[in-house]
Amino acid sequence: MVFPFKNGVKQVLKAGVLAVALLSAGCGREETTFPAEMPPSVAAPTAEPVASQSFTRTAKEMLMADFTLYRVDCATKDTGIFPTGFPAGLCQSQSDMPYGEDPVTKLYWGYHGSPDILSEEDSLGEGVTAFKWVVSKNASDPSKTGICYDFSVPEGNYTVTLGFYNPFGVRKISVECEGKTEIKAEKILRYNVNEKSFETKVTDGILNLKVCNPDAHTFMESPILSYITIASEPEYTRELLSAAVESMRVDNAAELYTEKSVKSYLSALEAAEKFLSKESNNGVNQIKQKFKDLRESYKMLTKKYKYDSFNPGAVWTDTEGTPIQAHGGQVQQLEIPDPETGKISTKWVWVGEDKTHGYRGGVCAYTSDDLYNWKFEGIIMRNVPSRRALEKEEYFKDLYAGYSDAELDNVALALDAERAVIERPKLIYNEKNRQYVLWFHADGPTATSNSNYAAACAGVAVSDTPFGPYRFVGRYRLNTCPPDQEDKHPQSKGMARDMNLFKDTDGTAYIIYSSEENLTLYISKLNEDYTYLETEPEKAVYGKDFIRLFPGAQREAPALFLKDGRYYLMTSGCTGWAPNQARYYVADSVMGEWTSKGDPCIGDSNHTTFESQSTCIFLDVNSGTWIYMGDRWFADTLNDSRYIWLPIVFKDNGDMEISFVSNWKLR
Ligand code: GAL
Repeated sequence: MVFPFKNGVKQVLKAGVLAVALLSAGCGREETTFPAEMPPSVAAPTAEPVASQSFTRTAKEMLMADFTLYRVDCATKDTGIFPTGFPAGLCQSQSDMPYGEDPVTKLYWGYHGSPDILSEEDSLGEGVTAFKWVVSKNASDPSKTGICYDFSVPEGNYTVTLGFYNPFGVRKISVECEGKTEIKAEKILRYNVNEKSFETKVTDGILNLKVCNPDAHTFMESPILSYITIASEPEYTRELLSAAVESMRVDNAAELYTEKSVKSYLSALEAAEKFLSKESNNGVNQIKQKFKDLRESYKMLTKKYKYDSFNPGAVWTDTEGTPIQAHGGQVQQLEIPDPETGKISTKWVWVGEDKTHGYRGGVCAYTSDDLYNWKFEGIIMRNVPSRRALEKEEYFKDLYAGYSDAELDNVALALDAERAVIERPKLIYNEKNRQYVLWFHADGPTATSNSNYAAACAGVAVSDTPFGPYRFVGRYRLNTCPPDQEDKHPQSKGMARDMNLFKDTDGTAYIIYSSEENLTLYISKLNEDYTYLETEPEKAVYGKDFIRLFPGAQREAPALFLKDGRYYLMTSGCTGWAPNQARYYVADSVMGEWTSKGDPCIGDSNHTTFESQSTCIFLDVNSGTWIYMGDRWFADTLNDSRYIWLPIVFKDNGDMEISFVSNWKLR
């Protein structure tokens, strides 16, 4: 199969071998008219097209190179080096170069240099983002600056991907390719690698690219181009598909890669093989689909990784290689029935906040046999995209069948994906009803306040199976300060924010939570179903149904546990996502007198609980290890917040000590 190129460049695909033959290549940049904000080309190419030598690539190489003809590490100083994970495209031997003939491939490509554009090292960037183009301070007219590249390519369709790493304030970029504006004054967010792709068609053998900052004439003049990739659209033939099957076959996939990624890979591989087994199958669209499925699933194959230790603060992935989303969480052992066989086995269960999409999300669950490796069991309670979804979407429709309109309104309000705040979920199994009960800090704006923490309620959801879906029952304000005591926040009664649960040896369960505008902790007794308070606030008796702890001390993030007949309560101060100093308390009974024991952290010189906030403390009976579980919140990238799990040492007198260990194992 021959693909003719303009300027005499051709691409040949024969019997599984793709040859890119370049008879001659040239780049003569013609003047084009740009929209007002696009600068004209900074310099006209000087090199004349010359005859080039031809070179060939096998289909496998083309496939493995992802059909990438160029991968440019823009403005790099060392043009002989390609950063890790950023290999050369097939038409280049340099990672960047001024427009001219590539010394190895003999193809013409590169940037059109100008004294106004300089390469600048980026101290915050790494590898491919370590260098960027900037506009020189001496530029005579910044509004006429822009970065122009030309690339010799065969005639055809291309996907162009541009990477912008922006260490400055938000700025805008515009991009023109083949004379067409592809990106117009789009914002490039700070501190992220922003990647933008578009498709383009080349008919003249040269792909022209221009990148500029449309605000150049006002402020922050530099465009911030970090890298470029140019990938050709393959010709979808049987040969291509069979080359793909051959080169993407992994015999021991199940051994090497995660279960889920192998499953979709194998089904794509099988579909492609089945298709190829019929001589008559030639449809381009079908080939394209099979090829794309195979390539996509092959790329998504995720290496199995087995942890055998804890690494507090490091990214912690689940058994599918995805970072665990179980913030503000809780770990406990539960008897879990196998979904297929019904066979019961004891598993560790970790529930927590899903922050995949940032601040607002539902509740995720994971299971483990060894506390190191966690399998994702799903989002056990989803937040609700709209009131309508409750009656239209399968998931919600079944779950809320039988709810009245008013009850549905309440669900939509409390779990609203756009407005509700769902934090610090904690799970408790109710043996009496054989029901799993999920409590959480249910917050969000109210009719009178737009604050995310105005509702200040405790929410409850239930399910007959451990991994839901959990059905929302209600959200409530809880007990209030008795009239004979000093209410630290009398203007808003019964508030409940950061919370936890505790089940005592007699089966009585308690909710521990921050109240009175986070100034006072409360412990309130739950009813036998664990779905509400034992006694409603209006009738609750102080000391019997609830107690107030440390009025005005401003503690939150409570974690209560029982060890050797003594009750311990770990807490943090209240400084939002920022960590602060821990303090713990002890008592002889849940409703008893609690005594402050101070900060249990040893060697925590910044007094920030090793940059974490408590969420749960539990015992691994096997190894006899008590484990402190905290969150290291990253306020700007909440989804990337880390888990700090540390072993607790109990001294002979029962005092608790926590030291930081960057890597540790259960004994
Ligand atoms: C913390 C609290 C977190 C979250 C955060 C929001 O004080 O412990 O769960 O609510 O504030 O700023």
